[in-house]
Amino acid sequence: MSAFLKACRREPTSHTPIWIMRQAGRYQPEYRAIRSKVSFVELCKSPDLAAEVTILPVTQLGVDAAIIFADILLVLEPLGIGFEFTKDDGPSILRPIRESKDVDAVSSAIHAADSLHYVMESIKKTKAGLPKDIPLIGFAGAPFTLASYAIEGGGSKNYLHTKRMMYSDEGAWRALMQKLSAAIADYLNAQIQAGADAVQLFDSWVGALSPSDYVRYVAPFVRGIFDSLPKHIPAIHFGTGNPALYPHMKAAGGTVIGIDWRVDLGTTWRLLGDDVAIMGNLDPVSLLAPKAVLAERAKDVLDSANGQPGHIFNLGHGVFPEVQVDQVRALVDFVHEASAR
Ligand code: CP3
Repeated sequence: MSAFLKACRREPTSHTPIWIMRQAGRYQPEYRAIRSKVSFVELCKSPDLAAEVTILPVTQLGVDAAIIFADILLVLEPLGIGFEFTKDDGPSILRPIRESKDVDAVSSAIHAADSLHYVMESIKKTKAGLPKDIPLIGFAGAPFTLASYAIEGGGSKNYLHTKRMMYSDEGAWRALMQKLSAAIADYLNAQIQAGADAVQLFDSWVGALSPSDYVRYVAPFVRGIFDSLPKHIPAIHFGTGNPALYPHMKAAGGTVIGIDWRVDLGTTWRLLGDDVAIMGNLDPVSLLAPKAVLAERAKDVLDSANGQPGHIFNLGHGVFPEVQVDQVRALVDFVHEASAR
């Protein structure tokens, strides 16, 4: 079994496995060349190209896992919540959800194997092209993070519209979270059927919530998604921004908890307990530091994990477009060498 899948199961490995969130992206000249010909959404919807950019970081960097090239927002299309990517401002929702009649108009079943069949095609093509010992991670956005895009209409700083709905119309909020969660569960299961070896739920913006709001307004829906997945498939539960949520995220589900750089990895792991694996958590900006400093900072993360089985090395969030490929390769090599046992 691959080092990545073993680590997800907290089994000992010959080295600490590493992959990088957003390992396929604009920091790579090859990716930029493909993007000069097709739009981002076209790229997601072209299985041959999506498989090519998914496999590239494996050959280019030597990472221990691939993650399917797609986006958390694609699921909004079959839900009937249209979106587009504008040139400079990122994603934009065509019809933001603001009141209960907007929630009523959202689809209650998406049939992901059909409506998102291009993602399943990308998974099959990627599996056919990947080395046999490199697992493929499928993924979806978590319901809070997706709801925040659907309600705000794009990225947000303070989540005013999202929290306003949560606090003032809990019925509409729950109805929306239920529809999103059903779609996400269907979508992740379809990716597993298509060949994904593990899955990750991205709750990138959940850190905007207090622990009690997380427990009341979010955790039950997230738990439903993890409960719907086959038990033999590792599931990574990733969130950023608010370390106080990690114990509650663990309680909601996941074989692996993905953490950001704002916490000490070892301390957080001890707090969560040794019945869960951990992923993280180098500050992504470390990749802009000189190589010696980058190595020192990566070593701090490895030292913090103390070689305990169940650590998957990653950044605390995605790699920035400003980073040099050579730096990312140096990080992967360093983690492999420094953790060899
Ligand atoms: O990690 C990988 O290599 C797999 C592909 C992947 C992408 N997006 C490709 C992408 C994954 C796993 C995602 C997840 C995603 N998408 C998240 C959760 C992770 C995170 O970063 O917090 C979120 C919040 C999104 C939504 C999204 N997609 C935004 C806000 C943006 C615009 C900002 C930006 O970085 O450009 C995207 C676009 C996007 N998704 C790009 C890529 C490679 C850049 C698009 C381009 O080529 O111009």
